Amino acid sequence: MDGDVAKILINQEQLRERVTQLGAELTRDYAGKKLMLVGILKGAVLFMADLMREIRLPLAYDFMAVSSYGAATVTSGVVRILKDLDSSVENTHVLIVEDIIDTGLTLKYLTETLEARQPLSVKIVTLLDKPTRRKLDVRPDYNGFVIPDEFVVGYGLDYNGNYRNLPYIGVLQPKVYQK
Ligand code: IMP
Ligand code: MG
Repeated sequence: MDGDVAKILINQEQLRERVTQLGAELTRDYAGKKLMLVGILKGAVLFMADLMREIRLPLAYDFMAVSSYGAATVTSGVVRILKDLDSSVENTHVLIVEDIIDTGLTLKYLTETLEARQPLSVKIVTLLDKPTRRKLDVRPDYNGFVIPDEFVVGYGLDYNGNYRNLPYIGVLQPKVYQK
């Protein structure tokens, strides 16, 4: 598995350090507020598990799963909800936890969907941001790392369902795509 990785973009130590910093920032910003983390399956699972242990506040968490329609409808912003939240977000501050923002389609849709349910606020924390790929105007409130336009795997991110359990963020060898 590691042999399929051409280079490590962000190593374990860098991930740990940044996640700790983000947790400290969130601990400051959400002190005294009722907080619910909403993790986006499946990519955000590893990041969310580490991040929440650095948020030294009472909180609740839940997950949503979404799938975007085909490439032809990218600009329409249509995303399908495969798994919704179990409970209401009224009177709660919602923090969406995502692995990566690419075109922005997923988060644009999710932010609008959750805002319509009238929580006290909706913000976004993403581990990675690829701003050069953006098609819709979406900006994370908290971001771990800005990365170049390269397809990355590991720490929750996949290629065809694989590599999610790599403990670092890496770039795949071209031979993997050519198989
Ligand atoms: P967006 O809707 O285009 O912003 O896409 C976000 C989703 O695309 C993420 O949640 C990932 O599942 C996937 N994605 C985008 N870029 C990458 C990447 O470099 N590696 C793995 N998954 C990616
Ligand atoms: Mg994915």
